[in-house]
Formats: sequence, C-alpha cells, structure tokens
Amino acid sequence: MTSEGESEDEGEGARGPWWRDAVCYEIHPRSFADSDGDGIGDLPGATDRLPYVRDLGVDAVWLTPFYPSPLADAGYDIADHTDVAPDLGTLADFDAFAARAHALGLKVLVDLVPNHTSDAHSWFREALAAPAGSAARDRYLFRPGRGVRGEEPPNDWRSAFGGPAWTRTGDGEWYMHLHAPEQPDLDWHHPEVVADFERILRFWLDHGVDGFRVDVAHALFKHPALPDAGPGQHEDPARNHLMPYYDREELHPLYRSWHTLLADHPAGPPGAAPPGERLLVAEAAVFDPARLARYVRPDEMGQSFNFAFLECPWQPAAIRAVVEESVAAMTAVGAPVTWVLSSHDAVRPVTRYGGGPAGARRARAAALLMLALPGTAYVYQGEELGLPQVELADDRLRDPVWRRSGGTERGRDGCRVPLPWEGGQPPYGFSSAAPTDCWFPQPEGWAGLTADAERGDPASTLELYRAALRLRRSGSPRAVADGGALRLLSPPGASYLAFDRGDGLVCAVNFGPDPLPLSDAFETTEVVLASGPSTDGGRLPADTAVWLRR
Ligand code: NOJ
Repeated sequence: MTSEGESEDEGEGARGPWWRDAVCYEIHPRSFADSDGDGIGDLPGATDRLPYVRDLGVDAVWLTPFYPSPLADAGYDIADHTDVAPDLGTLADFDAFAARAHALGLKVLVDLVPNHTSDAHSWFREALAAPAGSAARDRYLFRPGRGVRGEEPPNDWRSAFGGPAWTRTGDGEWYMHLHAPEQPDLDWHHPEVVADFERILRFWLDHGVDGFRVDVAHALFKHPALPDAGPGQHEDPARNHLMPYYDREELHPLYRSWHTLLADHPAGPPGAAPPGERLLVAEAAVFDPARLARYVRPDEMGQSFNFAFLECPWQPAAIRAVVEESVAAMTAVGAPVTWVLSSHDAVRPVTRYGGGPAGARRARAAALLMLALPGTAYVYQGEELGLPQVELADDRLRDPVWRRSGGTERGRDGCRVPLPWEGGQPPYGFSSAAPTDCWFPQPEGWAGLTADAERGDPASTLELYRAALRLRRSGSPRAVADGGALRLLSPPGASYLAFDRGDGLVCAVNFGPDPLPLSDAFETTEVVLASGPSTDGGRLPADTAVWLRR
C-alpha cells in the first residue's frame, strides 16, 4: 500500500494464476435449487442454474459439502469423503456439474473437511466397536477422563458450538470434538489420517476440481499434551491463536505438502485447472493478520478468508484498520487479500448492518467496497439478491448451536433458507415441493427479491453486483489483484473511507451522517457506479458507496 503521491509500477505481467483476483460464488447445495421435487436442493438443480452464476460475472463456484452425511452439522459431518449424498445426487451428477461449470468458464472449488469426520464414518464406528486403548481409536483423540472414576472430561476444552469438547463413550473413555459430538476430531499425528486426506485430494482432482476450501484450517493439530485452555475460550477471537488447539506450527508443513500434491498431481478431465493453477483456500479463524498471512506464504495455500472484514462493524475507522492491516500483512507474503461479507455461517449483511432500509443500503455499499478492494472476494448465494436473515420457527432449526446452547443461540439456519428464483410466493421456483416440505421454509414477502424480479431492474441488488463484477473485470488485472498499489485517500478519523485501487478507480464510502461533496474530496465527480439511487448533485449520501474514475 502506498500513500497518495507515491508512484507504483503499473506493469500487468505479474498477474499470476486465475485465483489471484477471482470472485467466487458460494453454493450451499441443499438451499440452492431442487431438481427432483423433494424440497432439498441438489447437484442437478445447481447444474441447471449455473448459467445464472456465469451471468452474474464471477469466476468460480465453491460447493459446500455434498458428501454422505447424517447432517448433524449441515453436511460438515462427513461419513464418506469420496462420494455424493444420495439426496443430492450421484458422482456422475458431480462430474456433470464440474463439466458444465468448466464449459461456462467457471472454476470449481469443493470443501475439504479434515479436522473431523462424522460419527457415522467407518473409522469412528470401528473405533467405538474396539475396546478402550486399542489402536483403532488412535485415528481420533480418545483419552481416559479425570477424577477418581474418570468421570470428568480429560481437559477443559470447549466446543465451538457450546458445551464441553469431550463426550464419554459407553466404556468410560472420552473422545474429543471441537464442534458437535457427532463430529469427532481426527488425530493428525496419525499417518493413516495424513495418507487418507492425500487420497481424498487426489480423488477430487481426478474428478475435475480446481481447488479446495479447507474447513477449520487452523485446528487440525492440537497441543500433544492436551493442556487446559483456561477461561474465555471462543469469547475473544483475537485470542484464538493462544488456544492449545488452534493455529499450531505443525499445520504449515502439512499445507506445504498439500501445495506440492496439488502442483504435482496429473491433469484432471478437460477444462479442469492444470497442475500449478489449483487453489487451496484456508477457512482459518485466525484474526491476527500477520498470523493469518502465514497460511498463504508462497508454498502453502493461495487464499485465506478475511473474517475480520466480515465481522467488522459498520464504522469507518474499524473498516479502515482492517483494510490497512490485511493489505499490509498479505502483501508482505505476496498473497491476495480474500474479502468476504457473508457465508453460510454468518448473519446476512442486510440484517447484520442494522436491518430495514438502512441495513439494505449499507449492504449494497459494502458490496461496492468489497468488490473495489484489491484481492479476491467470495459472494454467498443470495447476497447478490440482498436477502435478509430469516427468523425461523424453533421447530425448524437444525443448527447444532441451537441445541448445544440450550436454546439461547439460534445458530446459522437463518442465512441458509432456500434461494428465491421466481414467482410471487414460496417456494419461489426453488422446488416443486410444497413450501412446508422444503429443507427450510422461505418467508412470505420475497416476491421482489427473486432472481427473476431483480433481473433487468437497474435499482436491484442483483444488477448492482452484475455491474460491479463487469467493471471489475474490465479493470487493470494487476490493480484488481495486488494490494501493493492501493492508495488511501481519506484521512484517518474521517466519516468516509476512500481509496484509489491503483488504476484510477476510486471507491468512496460515506458512513454518514452528512452528505460528502465528491468534488472537494476527489477532484472528480465522474461516477461510474453507485450503490444508492443518486449522488445528490455531487454529494454522496450517508451509507452509500460510489466508484469514481480519475
Ligand atoms: C466451518 C463451516 O463453515 C461450518 O459451517 C462448520 O459448522 C464448521 N466449520 C465445522 O465443520
């Protein structure tokens, strides 16, 4: 990052692989499109809707888990890593999805979930059937309990979903799970675990996958002595890297080995990214930017989600700090920043930024901010439609967070409601099933938020995303990818944030409350795109973003 006035080489030769400036669209398959009328989205349904994704203007799709699973955690509890859940289709359906995506010019990422398996995985069943202390348990973290009769968990670790991170088996031993009890953690010191995930990576590369989003990438290795973690676990994300189960050094040699595997594994089917062009993206809940950057050093992964941006409140100073710190940390290791505003785990931005008209305005402004920032970005299905979080009835909630918090936290289901495609009432073209038989019920009142209703309406959020993605593609690839050229234009403490990306595109976001005169601030009023209806005679209204050309 430079200050205004400093110059920066504008060469465009060093763009690197496709993913350095890519925008990726996250598909949560059960909530995307249902082809067979069972009320559950599936792979053929997603394949049919790929032209919509291509027309949005993104470069890649990421499919969240579609593997066989008892669904204790929406598919992040995997019983078989190299097959397709029967309600979502078959392996041939996956191949058809990948082939269609590639034919449309879209890359395909899938989830790799290496921290834990389902309790229905053959390894865990074998472990439970074997006696305490036996080798079949060594692929997981089984331990005797504390207390006179072993009645206390082996340590004080807490599950990220609430409650202890240990469950006792019938024979008295305990096993560890950083998430739900149905998601036992693997022991990554076990050679069979290492070997099996190499097999899984190769399997999906042979099926045409262009990259992997690595789930819980910060937690695979635990401190070998399993020491107590102390109070305040999961309460302050900034302290995550201090926990004995997070962000350990042993992770990095593993990711270097996966980097090599992806670089060396022979080419997959036609259309798939060749060796050297494949991507690993870290889902690492590490909030210290310098520590997060260690996951994306040149011989490790390519991207790491910037959750600090997603979690940042709608305040100019806080967002400015995240931008500055993330760009500096990632540029130092030669990696792009991976901006993200929403996912299947986060409250929808429209609701998170305040809900109602203000929340909707801010979410649109945040989208223009994200898509102007140099680096890569992820868009979660429905974000481009401006969908709000849905309040589901208690008896429809599936997230283990709801149960494990004793009904005090509603969990993440409200952002996983099926997408509205067309029509005036549920299921809005998502399925031919009755609305009440759908995976999650959709609310009334979404007729104006369907893809069909928004398409062609210049005031819609869909058209805002499409226009931004179109302009982003036409920008200087180097400036789009490389944070080194970014120049902040707004002074610290200002109620607006503005920067020049390095190619003459200026993004300005006014956090309010007063309108911001554009000509005073930027010597130009040439607005190429605005998140709000008008710039009010050269004045940028509150909670609005513009892209300007200098
Ligand atoms: C992160 C995933 O995004 C989330 O949905 C899941 O619950 C946890 N990892 C555990 O796999």
